[in-house]
Formats: sequence, C-alpha cells, structure tokens
Amino acid sequence: MKKIVILGSTGSIGQNALSVIREEREKFQVKGLSARSNIDLLEKQIEEFHPETVVITDKEAGERFLSRSLAKKIKVILGKEGLLELVRKPEVDLVIIALVGIVGLLPTLEAICAKKTIALATKEVMVSAGAIVTENARKNNVEILPVDSEHNSIFQALRGHCSSEIKRIILTASGGPLAKIKGDLSDITPSIALKHPVWKMGKKISIDSATLMNKGLEVIEAHHLFGVEPAFIEVVIHREAIIHSLVEFKDGFISAILAFPDMRLPLHYILHYPGRVESSLPKLDFSKIERLNFKKPDFDRFPCLKYAYDALYKEGTMPAVLNRANEVAVDAFLKKKIKFGKIPEIIKRTMDLHQVVKDPTLEDILVADRWAKEKAQRFM
Ligand SMILES: NC(=O)c1ccc[n+]([C@@H]2O[C@H](COP(=O)([O-])OP(=O)(O)OC[C@H]3O[C@@H](n4cnc5c(N)ncnc54)[C@H](OP(=O)(O)O)[C@@H]3O)[C@@H](O)[C@H]2O)c1
Repeated sequence: MKKIVILGSTGSIGQNALSVIREEREKFQVKGLSARSNIDLLEKQIEEFHPETVVITDKEAGERFLSRSLAKKIKVILGKEGLLELVRKPEVDLVIIALVGIVGLLPTLEAICAKKTIALATKEVMVSAGAIVTENARKNNVEILPVDSEHNSIFQALRGHCSSEIKRIILTASGGPLAKIKGDLSDITPSIALKHPVWKMGKKISIDSATLMNKGLEVIEAHHLFGVEPAFIEVVIHREAIIHSLVEFKDGFISAILAFPDMRLPLHYILHYPGRVESSLPKLDFSKIERLNFKKPDFDRFPCLKYAYDALYKEGTMPAVLNRANEVAVDAFLKKKIKFGKIPEIIKRTMDLHQVVKDPTLEDILVADRWAKEKAQRFM
C-alpha cells in the first residue's frame, strides 16, 4: 500500500487525487490531508478516507473545526507550520503538493529533505525557486513527479531518454476562456475569465489561464524540471487540449502524449508510477475527433506570457517576483479591486523595479517574494 499525504486536499487537484484513490482503496492509504478553511469538505474527506492527521492553516477555521466531535478522533494541527510536520511523517511514501501559490514552497522543500517522493501540482513552487528545489531533490535522491498535464506528458515522453537528447519542448495551451473573444480585454469580468472551456480548476489557475500567465509559469516550470533552455521551450495554442505537450528530439522525431483532458489521468499515472495499470477514466475516441488545430499565441494580447519568458531569461530572483506580483494581482482581480487589464500592468511595473539577485539562496527568494508582494500591493 502506498501511504499518501495530500496538501490542499479540498482543492480541485486534491479532490481529483482523492477520487482516483477512491476507486482503488486497497492500493492506497491516506495518512494526512490539509485545507486552508474549507472545513466542511475536509470533514467529509476525513470520514471517507480516515487520515491520522489533518492540518488546517487558517487558524479561525481551525478553531471552529476543533469544536466538532470528529476533531477528537484524529490529530489536528493548526497553522502553516503543520504542513511541515505533516510531510515529515516517517511512514509516508508520496506527498501530493496541491496547494495554490508560493505557500507550497517550504512544505515541498521539507518533504524533499524527508526523502519523500513528490507529486508536484503547485507550479508556483518551481517558478519561484526551481533551481533550489531541483538541486535539493538531486542531493536527496528524491524524484519529483509532475502533475500538471503538460509536464506530466513530457515526463512520460522522456522515459528512457535524457535531457541532452531533447531539441525542444512544445507546451500546448488551450488558449483559455478569452481566446475567442475579439477586441479589448481590459474590462473582462471575473465571471467571464473563470469560465474555462476545457478544464474545471481552482480560481487562481483559471485566471492564470485567461491571461496566459499559466502557460508562462509552465514554461519556467518546464525549464527547471527538464533542464531545457528557454529558447528551446515553445508554446502553441491547441484548443482541443488533447495533445498535452510535445518533445522534439535531436534527430527530428517528435513524441506527443495524447489523452482525454481530465486531471485524474495524470494523477492516476503518478499514483501508480512507475507502473501503468488499467483505469476506468475517460478515453479518447478518435472516430469523434475530426481535427486537431494549432496556432501561435498572441503575445501582444496576452503580455503575461511574454513577461514570464522575460523573467526566465533574467533568472535569479526575477521569476519569484513575477510569481508573487501575479498572485497579488489575480487575488485583487478576483476580489474586484482591479480590472483585468491591470493584471499585466502590475506585474510589469513590479518586475521593472526589481534588482535581480543572481544564484539566489532560499532566503534571497523569500526576501524577493515579500518585496514583490509589497510593491505589487502598492501599485494597486
Ligand atoms: N486545478 C487543476 O486542474 C490544475 C492543473 C494543473 C496544475 N494545477 C496547479 O495545482 C495547484 C492547485 O490548484 P487547484 O486548482 O487545485 O487550486 P484550488 O482549487 O484553489 O485548491 C487549493 C488548495 O490549497 C488550499 N489553500 C489555498 N490557499 C492556501 C494557503 N494560503 N495556505 C494553505 N492552503 C491553501 C485550499 O484550501 P481551501 O479549500 O480550504 O481554501 C485548497 O485545498 C495550483 O498551483 C495550480 O496551478 C492545477
């Protein structure tokens, strides 16, 4: 039995992971779960999966949970530090990081130090501190299994190959909810921007998909996960989201991994890794696929994608600054404090002011992250 901890079990990825586990209860044991404040869903998950420990990071929600009778039957830890304790549990084999944002960074590093296999969904971790995370994983001989469908498919395509054989990586993008909208995008409302045509996801990644920042974050993530230089990572719009990404090898052959667009598929792959087993998840029916379309992304309409490349070329602390400015701007947009068009503007202004620290330590990254948060909030 694989023993599993899920950070962010109440989110979209967390729930998808539990739905895969639900189908094969005899193979997996859920040792720990975490939520920020959704204690009602967490309670249902506890009743169904019987974890030994849960973490609730929002202390007020946590206090409310402690007054419930279920709280007396298991170990409950309140606050972010609990995430570090949870991933250290000695018997745990696999830690699924499904938090949203930079908050995932320290628990990921802690899990790597504790030599746990990591299933990484939280792309902001690799974006902010990819070099530190991959170096720590190498030193501790820990495998990082990417959950994001694009990186998961590249990971699959690369099995049996090494980075030096790659000519280029082509990340596919569905184009998000705004791809078909003509004209000015600056006044798009959160309800329109949240309506993703293919994927049902958490709010932050849905807005990132609307700005195409999501693809930019994925370019940075791919650079760190697969050791490919930014000039050899391309983005192509592929609205059907059936090809999850492509790897071109130096001899000209291209590997593409195709699957029905459903996040339970990469999670199923990771939960069973390194083997492959039968799944009851949706499969592609080629008789119903008339065509697959591809086109170049529009960097002028979606400048966030360009800013992500800029941050990656500048290296050092710049990707962490891009990430935090984006987190601040997306949060403000969702709370209707700023218009859609302000998101790229806040990111650019924050990046323009930043003095990059090359080869940053973890402390440098955390300082840059706090700096970017403060600056981006001021630009609002
Ligand atoms: N959703 C997808 O299909 C998808 C695909 C690829 C990659 N990803 C990446 O996976 C990550 C998770 O995405 P998601 O869509 O699952 O997000 P989500 O639905 O918003 O869920 C986030 C989870 O993290 C918890 N959380 C949020 N903020 C937190 C904080 N400050 N401290 C501690 N816990 C916190 C939430 O708890 P509460 O529920 O209590 O708020 C929830 O359990 C993101 O980095 C995203 O980019 C997602």
